[in-house]
Parts: sequence; C-alpha cells; structure tokens
Amino acid sequence: MPGLAINVDHVATLREARKINIPDPVTAAAIVELAGADGVVVHLREDRRHIRDRDVRLLRETIKTKLILEMAATSEMIAIAIEIKPDLVTLVPEKREELTTEGGLDIHHHKDLVSDAVQALQKGGIPVSIFVDPDPDQIKLAHRIDANCVEIHTGTFCEADTPEKRSEAFERIVDSAKLAYKLKLGVNAGHGLGYQTIKAFKGLSEIDEFSIGHSIIARAVLVGLDRAVREMIALIK
Ligand code: PXP
Repeated sequence: MPGLAINVDHVATLREARKINIPDPVTAAAIVELAGADGVVVHLREDRRHIRDRDVRLLRETIKTKLILEMAATSEMIAIAIEIKPDLVTLVPEKREELTTEGGLDIHHHKDLVSDAVQALQKGGIPVSIFVDPDPDQIKLAHRIDANCVEIHTGTFCEADTPEKRSEAFERIVDSAKLAYKLKLGVNAGHGLGYQTIKAFKGLSEIDEFSIGHSIIARAVLVGLDRAVREMIALIK
C-alpha cells in the first residue's frame, strides 16, 4: 500500500505572513505524524520564503517517521542537507519568481549539476530522489545518474481541463511509474493532488508514496475553523 508524506510548507507560509512564531510547522509535523502520515516534507527555498533553517534542524530532532527535504541542487543546499541529514532529499527546480514548483527537473539540461548533487548527497549518506515530469527519457536519465528514486510530477494531470487531456496525462504517469519501477527506482508521485484526483491512483502498485501539501492544509483550515471560532467565543463569553 502506498504511503503518504505530507508537505507542511503552507503552515510556515501562514507563520511568515505575520513574521511571528505561530503556526509552527514543527508542531504541524507532530500532528500529521500522530494522524498516521508516513513522512513529513519541507522545501527549504533559497529565499527562505516559508520554511527556515531552524525548522529543518528542529524537524530533524523531532520527526519519528521520515524527514524529506525538497531543495534545489545548489552548493548551499547540499551543504545544509549533508549537515542535517534528512532521510531523503528530493531535488527540484527552483525559480525565485514562481509561486510553487512549476515542473520537473530537466535532468537532460542540467545533467552534470544534478549528477554531481546526487553523488555528493549520497556520499554524505543521504538517498536522493529527483522530481521529474512523467517522461520516459527523464526516468531513464535519473536511473543513469544513479538516483535512488524519482518523484513523478502529477501537476499536469491534476490541472487538466478536459477528460481527454486528463486521461492522456494519467497514462503518461502510469507509463513512467511502471518504467521507474522496472528500473528498480523508488517511485513517488506528487504536486497538485487533491481529494478527487487521488482516486485515480487506486491500485497503481508501482507508486511507493504520495507527496501532498496544499489540498490537505487547505482542508485543515476549513474543517478546523468551526472549532477555532467556538473556542474563541467561549473565552469571550
Ligand atoms: N512534490 C513536490 C516536488 C513539490 O514541490 C510540491 C509542492 O511543494 C509537492 C509535491 C506538493 O504539492 P501540493 O502542495 O500541490 O500537494
């Protein structure tokens, strides 16, 4: 049965909206673990717009499942990862101006950079996953540069606005997952997955783990709001 790793970046985004210390993504990580998550994901971005170095360090001490660090293949991030030792690094492309990760890492275009990063991280004792589009060439390249795992980008499938585009995008994910599995790579999948789109993946046994953030944190805000309002009213009355 596939696992679920939860990305808690949005909790940090809310904290940074006020630049104070709540809500704390470290507390959120403990809650998602208690609820049964198989791992916690954070993306330490170059601009530190949400997750901060302090969060990753504390998470390393507190997480009891798996700490998965998403990061760009830069020397700064590689040094931080080797020092903190997450259980898995997922290499992602990163642009300063993007709202969120916009697509898979193009291993073909950045082969030396990505390959060097994989080697440096593995030498530091950290297994490496690469976030890739559902493209057989990218999967084969990830295998060729000895990545341990791929995370298949599900965003195009989740955002497809016609049934034809949706089924075409899903087929590409299935083919890529099967190819990666055949090549003995670990197979994760994520980006944009929600409570409807996840249903399509039932029975796709090649996928080891889903990485989901936005839809779960968005739902948590809505399902938790009623209780939060009642608690404040009780204090006021
Ligand atoms: N996987 C990767 C590589 C990501 O960059 C993200 C977004 O941070 C996710 C999964 C989770 O995507 P979402 O927040 O849309 O569930």
